[in-house]
Amino acid sequence: MTKKYLLDRLPEIERLERQAELIGLDRVRDHFSLADGEAVLDAGCGSGWASRLVAREWPGTTVTGIDLTPSFVEYARQCAENEQIKNLSYVSGDITDLPFENKSFDVVWSQLVIFFLPEPESAIAEFARVLRPGGQVKIAVTESPFETIWPERPPLSQGIREMREKALHGWRMACIPQMLKSAGFQDITVETAVDRVHSFNGGASPAQRRNIEESYVQALRDDPSLAGGKDNADRLIGEILNFADDNESVSINTHWVFGGNKP
Ligand SMILES: C[S@@+](CC[C@H](N)C(=O)[O-])C[C@H]1O[C@@H](n2cnc3c(N)ncnc32)[C@H](O)[C@@H]1O
Repeated sequence: MTKKYLLDRLPEIERLERQAELIGLDRVRDHFSLADGEAVLDAGCGSGWASRLVAREWPGTTVTGIDLTPSFVEYARQCAENEQIKNLSYVSGDITDLPFENKSFDVVWSQLVIFFLPEPESAIAEFARVLRPGGQVKIAVTESPFETIWPERPPLSQGIREMREKALHGWRMACIPQMLKSAGFQDITVETAVDRVHSFNGGASPAQRRNIEESYVQALRDDPSLAGGKDNADRLIGEILNFADDNESVSINTHWVFGGNKP
């Protein structure tokens, strides 16, 4: 079966660019400390915003982005060309079967990607393979949103959880440290921060609301079977938007970055 990203429509690119502002460029930049000559891989680069950021900030490095969706890679390439970023290139491909030689990179960065994979171990093994000894991996993910909320709304929390389990293969992200260890990584770290995309106090901001509508709500409109059929999908969409629009609502969600060193 041909692999495909769940939200592979072109407007998704624009959402990813806007979502970058919500996540915060500062937050991504703070995960890097690079020396001239180092090579960075952005695994599952999407629109390429993170790889552009790193390549601009550290012009002495070489940055490569890879993504499964060819139209996203084309967009990312075009942006790099328009901005005349010389130390940045893109390839289409699958992060579970990377088209790179062993020991080609010093840092592998992979944000909001690994939870789309049925077998994340295969990507983690590939990250270990393409890293040089002393190289670092950083895997950023966010929890399933609308679990820690007030007022409590069980149909919302449960509906999103079930939808994510259907769409995202149901494995637990807390097992990533163990997966990194099994792939041979050492000094495993787990950094947590507020997920700025799905956390709010007093209803979703307009930018968050738009992002929720263009991700979770759009996925349900595209594929109502994610909620077990059209009626359930419509009900869940109502729950999501009603909660986002309630100016008393509070949502707390966590952003995790797992790290490891290749010995
Ligand atoms: C939510 S987006 C995140 C993009 C980007 N890392 C960011 O932070 O904005 C997920 C990306 O993962 C890509 N993707 C999903 N499965 C992939 C795979 N097996 N190999 C490479 N890319 C993949 C999708 O095409 C999409 O661009």
